[in-house]
Amino acid sequence: MLVPPVSHDARLIDELFRVVYVLSFIVFIIVEGLIIYAVIKFRRRRADEMPEQVHGNTAAEIGWTVVPALAVGVVFGFSVDTLNRMTARGSPTAPLAHVHSLNDTEARRRIEEAKQVDLVIEVVGRQWVWQYTYPDGKLTTNETLVVPAGKTIRLDLTTPDVIHAWWMPAFGPMIYVNPGEVSYVWFNVPPGEYIGQCNVFCGVAHAQMISKVRALPQDEYERWYQEQLAALSGPTATGDPQRGQDIFMNQNICWSCHSIEGTKAQGKVAPRTLTGFANYDTIAEVVPNTADNLRAWLHDPQAIKPGTTMPNLNLSAQDIEDLVAYLQTLK
Ligand code: HEC
Repeated sequence: MLVPPVSHDARLIDELFRVVYVLSFIVFIIVEGLIIYAVIKFRRRRADEMPEQVHGNTAAEIGWTVVPALAVGVVFGFSVDTLNRMTARGSPTAPLAHVHSLNDTEARRRIEEAKQVDLVIEVVGRQWVWQYTYPDGKLTTNETLVVPAGKTIRLDLTTPDVIHAWWMPAFGPMIYVNPGEVSYVWFNVPPGEYIGQCNVFCGVAHAQMISKVRALPQDEYERWYQEQLAALSGPTATGDPQRGQDIFMNQNICWSCHSIEGTKAQGKVAPRTLTGFANYDTIAEVVPNTADNLRAWLHDPQAIKPGTTMPNLNLSAQDIEDLVAYLQTLK
C-alpha cells in the first residue's frame, strides 16, 4: 500500500488487499488469455470466409457463471474473516462502532467491555478543524493529536455541525462522525507522525480539515502534556488595555463587525457578542481562549479557523498586545 500500515487493523486490511490483488491478477490473466486465444483462433482467415458462428453453449455458460461466483465467494470469505478478526474481542486494536443515540447505554456498555483502553480522547470535528480534548478536560489541541505510543487510545467522536469522517490511512479504517451520535475508534500505534484527512466533503474548507497524530514514547508524552498545561496557565497579556480599546473603537474597524454592550461597538457581523468575551471558553468556538491563542487569532484568523469570515487586519505586534489586554478586560 502507498501508506505503510502501522496498526493491527491496518495490517489486516493490507493483507486482505494483497490476497484480493493476487486473485484479481490471476483472473485478469485467465480472462485476457481466453480473449487473445479466441481472437486468434476464430479470426477470419480469408477475405471470402465467414468464421464459425456459435449460438449458445450450455456448458460454457454454466462455467462462466459458476466460476466467477466461486471467485467472489472466496473473496467474500476472506473479507468476513478479516472483519471478524478486526472486531474480535481483545484484538490489539478494536472494533469501530457508532452509538446511534447519545443515551444508547447498551451499545456504550458493549464498547466499554470490548476494549481495555489506556487513554480516551474526546474529539469534536467541526467545520473545519478536528479538536482533541485530553482526559482531564484541561487541554484541547487542534489538528494535531498527541498520544503515547504503544498504548490503546480510544477516540469518542462527535460533531456539532455536519457529517465528517476521521481517517488516518496508516491506521486502517475510517470512521464517520454524524451530528447527534457518538462514534468510536481505537488504535495502538508505534512512535511516529501520521497524517490523515477528513474524508467526507464537509464544506468550503474541507480540504484544510486535516488531522495529524504524533505518537510519542510514554515519558515524552508526559513531558509534552505537562508543558502544554504550563503554557495554558502561562503569562497573559502585557499590553495596554486603554490603547487596545482605542484601537478597537477608533483606530481600527473592529467595532463595525463586533458588539460590546454599553459601547459604540454594535456590529452584527460576528455571530457572538464580545460582551463577556474574557469568560468564553473558546475563541471562535475552535481554540481555548488563552492569551496566546488570541494573539494568533488576531494575527491571522484564517490560520486558526480556515474559512472564517473574520478578515486578517494586518495588525502590528504592539496593536495585538494591546487588543489582547483590552479583550481580557471584557468580563
Ligand atoms: C469584517 C468583520 C470583522 C472585523 C472588521 C473584525 N472582526 Fe473579529 N470576528 C468577525 C467574525 C465574523 C468573527 C467570528 C468568526 C468565526 O466564528 O468564525 C470574529 C471573531 C472575533 C473574535 C472571537 C470572538 C468569539 O466569539 O470567540 C475576536 C476576539 C475578534 N473577532 C476580535 C476582533 C478584533 C480585535 C478586531 C479588530 C482588530 C476584529 N475582530 C475585527 C468579524 C470581524
